[in-house]
Amino acid sequence: MALTIRLLLLLLATLVASSPSTCTFTPSANATITNYPGSPALNTTKNYPYNISALSEIPIATVCTSPTGNRTAELACARTYIDAIDEQLAFLYARRLGYAAVAGASKFATNTSLNDPSRNDVVAAGMAAKVLKYGATEAAGAVMGGEGCMIYAALEYEVETIRESCDSTFTVDVERVCE
Ligand SMILES: *[C@@H]1O[C@H](CO)[C@@H](O)[C@H](O)[C@H]1NC(C)=O
Ligand SMILES: *[C@@H]1O[C@H](CO)[C@@H](O)[C@H](O)[C@H]1NC(C)=O
Ligand SMILES: *[C@@H]1O[C@H](CO)[C@@H](O)[C@H](O)[C@H]1NC(C)=O
Ligand SMILES: *[C@@H]1O[C@H](CO)[C@@H](O)[C@H](O)[C@H]1NC(C)=O
Ligand SMILES: *[C@@H]1O[C@H](CO)[C@@H](O)[C@H](O)[C@H]1NC(C)=O
Repeated sequence: MALTIRLLLLLLATLVASSPSTCTFTPSANATITNYPGSPALNTTKNYPYNISALSEIPIATVCTSPTGNRTAELACARTYIDAIDEQLAFLYARRLGYAAVAGASKFATNTSLNDPSRNDVVAAGMAAKVLKYGATEAAGAVMGGEGCMIYAALEYEVETIRESCDSTFTVDVERVCE
């Protein structure tokens, strides 16, 4: 009896130990340490309005206020900065999704539900507070963190990557509570 239980435990331990190796997130070939906005490795001729590799270089939006009240110039200026910031946001978002996929594979390997509504609320509230802290509004931050579907997009990405690296039949209904 005791032997059977020990054998069972051994079998279980083997299963648990082997599942992570067959279920590990493999990042895209585009996710490399030299592929970031402004990286010299990209041989880019793209001109950004500030050093895109340094957060401290991003100016406050008033740099676009035209001293002569030229609204056309202001709009063009704002778009230049928005494009540069979008490059950084896209990069950070892709990096963030990589970590979401690691979390997803980990949850899958331990048979834990991907969707954790309390965690989702914490992320949305945290983003709201951070966006407020850095100079915009809580409401806009909450949209970015959760209500704007970032969390649901990440969960869907987790499901997709689990299908690729863990279980091709894996499905979870990611119910979006945002539109
Ligand atoms: C890498 O990025 C390029 C665009 O820069 C895209 O066309 C390509 O599909 C990406 N590769 C992968 C594996 O996602
Ligand atoms: C950048 O240039 C180097 C040297 O010419 C080359 O080896 C590398 O593949 C280029 N990288 C890209 C992303 O084009
Ligand atoms: C841009 O910022 C990065 C990070 O601080 C720094 O390594 C790099 O030298 C800066 N580039 C220029 C052109 O100032
Ligand atoms: C306003 O700015 C635009 C874009 O820089 C420029 O083409 C235009 O000549 C400017 N208008 C005046 C009245 O200075
Ligand atoms: C995984 O969790 C589900 C739901 O809690 C449960 O029904 C199932 O038996 C678990 N599977 C394993 C292998 O532990």
